[in-house]
Amino acid sequence: MSPFRLTRTLPEDASGAALRADVRAGLIRTPKTLPPKWFYDARGSALFDRITTLPEYYPTRAEREILLARSPEIAAATGARTLVELGSGSSDKTRHLLDALVGLRTYVPVDVSASALEQAGAALLAQRPALDVHALIADFTTAVDLPVDAPGPRLVAFLGGTIGNLLPAERAAFLHSVRSLVAPGDALLLGTDLVKDEATLVAAYDDAAGVTAAFNKNVLTVINRELGADFDLDDFAHVARWDAEREWIEMRLRARTAVTVKVPAVNLAVDFEAGEELRTEVSAKFREAGVRAELAAARWEVTRWWTDRAGRFALSLSTAR
Ligand code: SAH
Ligand code: AVI
Repeated sequence: MSPFRLTRTLPEDASGAALRADVRAGLIRTPKTLPPKWFYDARGSALFDRITTLPEYYPTRAEREILLARSPEIAAATGARTLVELGSGSSDKTRHLLDALVGLRTYVPVDVSASALEQAGAALLAQRPALDVHALIADFTTAVDLPVDAPGPRLVAFLGGTIGNLLPAERAAFLHSVRSLVAPGDALLLGTDLVKDEATLVAAYDDAAGVTAAFNKNVLTVINRELGADFDLDDFAHVARWDAEREWIEMRLRARTAVTVKVPAVNLAVDFEAGEELRTEVSAKFREAGVRAELAAARWEVTRWWTDRAGRFALSLSTAR
């Protein structure tokens, strides 16, 4: 049997304190905003997994197509002995990489969602008995402490286009902090969703079955449960909008009528005007030149750039300088 270890690297009440701080800061400012990491309790992670199977949500299929075609090349180029995956979720697409990385000793999935890590760990244990899996419950926007048994060469994977859920300044800080996890010559495999026509993009974030709407509203359920708030989910409508200037999708929750929401754990009564919108996520879409420039600024040199056949999504492989 392969060892499976799950380590919480956040201090015990870190997530409670962080949620309180984010909710307080995000709901008193104008416009109101919340960081997307709070979608992902067990239900949110399950809803995201359903999103990845929706006909409108192309990124997962597009990235899987690239991984299936390119994993042998990635393995040959990196010779990785440790794979660190940030925001690993179900680790489902990762198995194409794991299949190809023949010299791999240690897999370190990193996620804020304990339930996602536990389920992924159980599946990996059954499928890959020889692999040493050391899962970390951690926030990748803060410095991640890798386990001691994470030998080089290291490959860091950040898949799914999750980098697009960070704002530009957060992305820059993130790419620098990932660079500090590795040594010169180590590698970063980065998935980025690409700019495309508005109709395709909006449909991917406003599906006919309403799964993305439920995912978006799940953040309110998390705040109700964790902070004793009294959000009525029916008071809010799911909104997905393309911002053509910033080239990102914004998910928002729009108050259908004027409402006041109490959040006892942070001593707040928050007024929403009718039609007022709370931004819950940005999902930036990229162009090749922009990705190369952002990586270069953090001392990553892009050595390979692949897209799916339809040109919807890109996977880049970079080397740490
Ligand atoms: N990589 C998977 C999952 C993408 S969903 C895929 O490509 O399908 C985004 C994942 O990132 C979720 O599992 C979520 O729990 C995790 N996540 C979001 N914000 C995070 C943060 N700040 N730190 C760590 N994990 C985070
Ligand atoms: C995780 N991340 C890349 C997803 C995205 O497409 O931005 C999250 C998501 N939001 C709505 N649907 C999926």
